[in-house]
Amino acid sequence: MTEPHSVQGGCAEQDKTWVMIMRGYTQFNVTVHHDKITNTTFGTSYLALLDKCEDGRLIDHMEPLHFICEYCMPFIEKLAPVNSLRGCSLEELVRSPTYELEILGTGSDGAVEIIGSETCTFTPAFSIFPSRLHEQLASYTSVPDIQTRDVAVHVDDRAHSGTVQGTVRLEAGKLKFLKLRMYVREREFDRELRILLNIRERGLVSAECRVSRLHAIVLSGSAEEECIVGVLLDLISPSSFGIDLLSPQIWSPTTLHPKWQQQVGDTVEVLHANGIIWGDVNAGNVIIDETLDAWVIDFGGNNNPVFVDNDKAETIEGDWQGIGRLFGEWLPARTKGEPQ
Ligand SMILES: Nc1ncnc2c1ncn2[C@@H]1O[C@H](COP(=O)(O)OP(=O)(O)OP(=O)(O)O)[C@@H](O)[C@H]1O
Ligand SMILES: [Mg+2]
Repeated sequence: MTEPHSVQGGCAEQDKTWVMIMRGYTQFNVTVHHDKITNTTFGTSYLALLDKCEDGRLIDHMEPLHFICEYCMPFIEKLAPVNSLRGCSLEELVRSPTYELEILGTGSDGAVEIIGSETCTFTPAFSIFPSRLHEQLASYTSVPDIQTRDVAVHVDDRAHSGTVQGTVRLEAGKLKFLKLRMYVREREFDRELRILLNIRERGLVSAECRVSRLHAIVLSGSAEEECIVGVLLDLISPSSFGIDLLSPQIWSPTTLHPKWQQQVGDTVEVLHANGIIWGDVNAGNVIIDETLDAWVIDFGGNNNPVFVDNDKAETIEGDWQGIGRLFGEWLPARTKGEPQ
């Protein structure tokens, strides 16, 4: 069963600890200044936990974070009564209520209190990093869009792996694949968006060019300050062997591998002829659908040197090197049972 809350991050430092907790679509940043909890019952247990060090490092760095999370939970439950993401709209995650809490001693009876519940701001959760991209979009004749309030989070257990990327449900009940613009992955998102729009504008999706198809860009905010939050792609239904070439069950039907290599090669030829470089050839970026056909996905350009030498990243030569290594070396090695 899915936990109703999760520790999304944090760090126990020399003088303070901070923890990011998520319950439903509400975020809590909890800070504990160690000198403000000395001589308290909470502080005695907590500081003893921090003293459990090996070579100056905590044996389990998550333990203090969970300790603080559990301590705050009754307080957090009152501020965030909704404990699930299932069915909540993407808008609720983009404008997620965020509380800055602090645990500190009251100065009497060794007690502590949690302060900060009176004010709440609204900030994106799960490292979502929206941006204004209107100049980039201006060069395209039509860009389909959809509002975050019309996109519902479909499955909530992903949230605990720190992302809500994946299958989402639209107003009309249709399922789509959501990719978000995320902090420290802005360059990848912006590259992928540009390529998805080029593919759409040139009408490249066909039997010879099996690539992710943009359904719409996802926008949030009023017309004057509209931001792009992510993209929705048509959902590719996975084969019964698994979704991508990283799935071990996909390695055994070896008779299909030449077909997949051909389909990926044909696709990349069409892309190159249209001035588009895949830029991220790797086993996780070739999807096998329910009819056992291969698709090229992920235009983030995050080079994986197992497949493409770094000095060939985002070049035509690099794409061919990656395809050669994927189907000529990597996949045959997996089918022989060699470790990765
Ligand atoms: N259109 C789609 N339909 C169904 N599943 C998809 C689709 N696009 C991506 N996926 C699934 O999500 C995974 C990650 O997608 P993608 O590579 O585009 O994202 P990413 O954020 O760049 O991830 P990574 O860092 O793992 O490469 C894919 O390996 C695949 O399993
Ligand atoms: Mg990928």
